[in-house]
Amino acid sequence: MTRVSPTPALARLRGDFPPVGRARVLVHRGTCGNAVGAEAVAAALRASMPGAAIAEGACDGACWAAPSATVQREAHSHRFARLDRGIPDELAACLAGQCDDEYAGRGEYGLLERVGRNDGSFGDVIGRGAYGAAAMAATLRPEQVIEAVAASGLTGRGGAHFATAQKWRLAAQHTGQKYLVVNAEEGEPGVFKDRHLIEGDPHRLIDGILVACRAAGVDTVFVYVNGQARNARAAFERALEDARAQGILDGAAFGGDPVTVEVRSGAGGYVCGDESVILNSIEGQRPVPRYKPPFATDEGLWGRPTVVNNVETLCAVSTVFDSPPPPTKLIPLSGAVSRPGLYEVPIDGNTTWTGVLATAGSAPGLVPGILLGGPSGRFVTPEEYEVPLTMRGLGAGGAVVLPRDADIAEVTRSLAAYNMRESCGECTPCREGTQRLVQLLEDVPANRERIAALIETLTEASLCQLGGMAGRPVASALESFPEAFEE
Ligand SMILES: Cc1cc2nc3c(=O)[nH]c(=O)nc-3n(C[C@H](O)[C@H](O)[C@H](O)COP(=O)(O)O)c2cc1C
Ligand code: SF4
Repeated sequence: MTRVSPTPALARLRGDFPPVGRARVLVHRGTCGNAVGAEAVAAALRASMPGAAIAEGACDGACWAAPSATVQREAHSHRFARLDRGIPDELAACLAGQCDDEYAGRGEYGLLERVGRNDGSFGDVIGRGAYGAAAMAATLRPEQVIEAVAASGLTGRGGAHFATAQKWRLAAQHTGQKYLVVNAEEGEPGVFKDRHLIEGDPHRLIDGILVACRAAGVDTVFVYVNGQARNARAAFERALEDARAQGILDGAAFGGDPVTVEVRSGAGGYVCGDESVILNSIEGQRPVPRYKPPFATDEGLWGRPTVVNNVETLCAVSTVFDSPPPPTKLIPLSGAVSRPGLYEVPIDGNTTWTGVLATAGSAPGLVPGILLGGPSGRFVTPEEYEVPLTMRGLGAGGAVVLPRDADIAEVTRSLAAYNMRESCGECTPCREGTQRLVQLLEDVPANRERIAALIETLTEASLCQLGGMAGRPVASALESFPEAFEE
């Protein structure tokens, strides 16, 4: 892999922030770390190692290790897990140079490369490859940017995997006021990739935003952050301030057109992740889906052409000028594994669930299934564990590993009940159908045919994909685990 060379403008900017080069301990103070005592760990480290450089940054994706800290020496990194149990002597020894590089040879390049490796300051990320894509895009014509994204094969990581270049092309055809909306809602249980990316590397998102704006001819951006993702919002707003101060948004740093970026938050709920609900919410309308067509790229915010992109999609945009761009996908993995967390896997024909489960500390032979895609998802069964993962097959990527003794019927009922509760009530098939589905699941043997017919109605007649996909986990469970629903 060769990274895109910095443009002269970016090289000048990077020159203003030479690397500090001093060994330090970076305490992971993201949402997961803070929830389990990372603040106290930072205080304990400062008390026990006076004079040592103790920095704070976001979590590095290893939720299982929290509260944790990473010793960073030049290019070396070594993570120390579960520091609530005490600070081991090895940590100070590591800072002094007596430990290996835990990540040597693991091919760390990807979207998580800087996540949990920086202290949130602009100086700490600019030298680690940030803004390579935005600076390059500013030197290209919009069509050239779209061509590069098309050549990279990037598809939407919000779950539907629509071709990103195609979406931008549709918006680029229009003239006049256009918008970009960044979908950072992520209200669905079991998915925590986008807020992790924003907390850990908000400048990567801004990099992708600027490329999208250049390509689609957009000058106004709304970043719609889940109302509960307070750390993510704060990290993004800090990064935005820094980017503004460095002339990155107004075109002064790299050239290109000025871009205005505003942050918005909604009240939350699964349906709030649907792009048309976000548009209504930003406009101050009732947060319910819109009828399509018209599609947002033709008539979005205030009737103007609008590109809606997921956070991970835009973060992946930051790598499209590298050769080759890394074909990776983030998988937020939780449930019955020893090491739950956020994993970045290459989608190169070699990655399988067996490998992912092993990395997360699970013996695939003991896992009866994986719920992939949350409440709209399906069950992956052991027969598929050796099948290479595909980008489209992963959807948004959220994966919950079932325990050995999982009560599949109960899991299925709770997913159906979740969809019923989250239904916004705007259309009849979903409002009535999700309730009826929950009732029918009380006695599957007696209701098999009615369940199948109802799922068909939900799929065909619902206004949005909350209702449209509500029957999917039920159908998948009935097909993959028929014995779980016997009388
Ligand atoms: C009920 C529902 C929830 C959704 N939640 C999200 C979400 O949390 N984040 C997201 O990016 N897309 C979500 N989507 C998909 C968005 O509508 C949209 O397709 C996506 O943001 C487009 O970005 P992409 O092309 O970059 O994937 C959801 C869709 C539905 C129907
Ligand atoms: S499908 Fe469900 S969530 Fe979507 S508009 Fe209809 S009632 Fe609302």
